[in-house]
Amino acid sequence: MEFRTGQLKLDDLYGPRTLDELRESMAGCRACGLAAGRTNLVFGEGNPRARLMLIGEGPGAEEDRLGRPFVGPAGQLLDKILAAVGITREEVYIANIVKCRPPGNRVPNREEVSACLPWLRKQFALIGPPLVVILGSTALKSLIDPQAAITSWRGRWITRGRVRLMPTYHPAALLRDPRKKRDVWHDFQLVRDAYRALVPLGKE
Ligand code: URA
Repeated sequence: MEFRTGQLKLDDLYGPRTLDELRESMAGCRACGLAAGRTNLVFGEGNPRARLMLIGEGPGAEEDRLGRPFVGPAGQLLDKILAAVGITREEVYIANIVKCRPPGNRVPNREEVSACLPWLRKQFALIGPPLVVILGSTALKSLIDPQAAITSWRGRWITRGRVRLMPTYHPAALLRDPRKKRDVWHDFQLVRDAYRALVPLGKE
């Protein structure tokens, strides 16, 4: 049975039992038009048992070139933000709403987001993080509510079942407007506190 004719097959999505298997089944994905322009698919990376997952919008030029998320200027800022709250990149998992670069870094459209979201959901299900940071407007609208505005939703936890999600500004927005730094600092302090308060794995 096919999920999307000739493109995303249910077996691709539900067969994989590990992130590596999922990455493999996604490698040739042509579920939307973004596939045609990619150099590399940016699957996501980090700790497969991460308790904290960060979700951005989509790969930029440097991410597309290297096949890794958040390695360009916004990624360098994200690394600094994480370091400031004592969290390393290695302990978290970082992924994006879409896994192929939109041309000219435009915002991915509705079709592209809905073609790609099943992969992110499966990734999320395999990792099972109790905490998520939603980086920016596209991730907020795609994951929570198409009408949600990042300016009013940021800085407050959203609870969905056993998962808590913290929306904050995307690091690229901070590069454009450094006045947003104060808000992001506030939001990441909440994330740090919740992360520190988690029961260590195996002791739940
Ligand atoms: N911006 C994103 O949203 N994701 C990346 O991986 C890089 C920049």
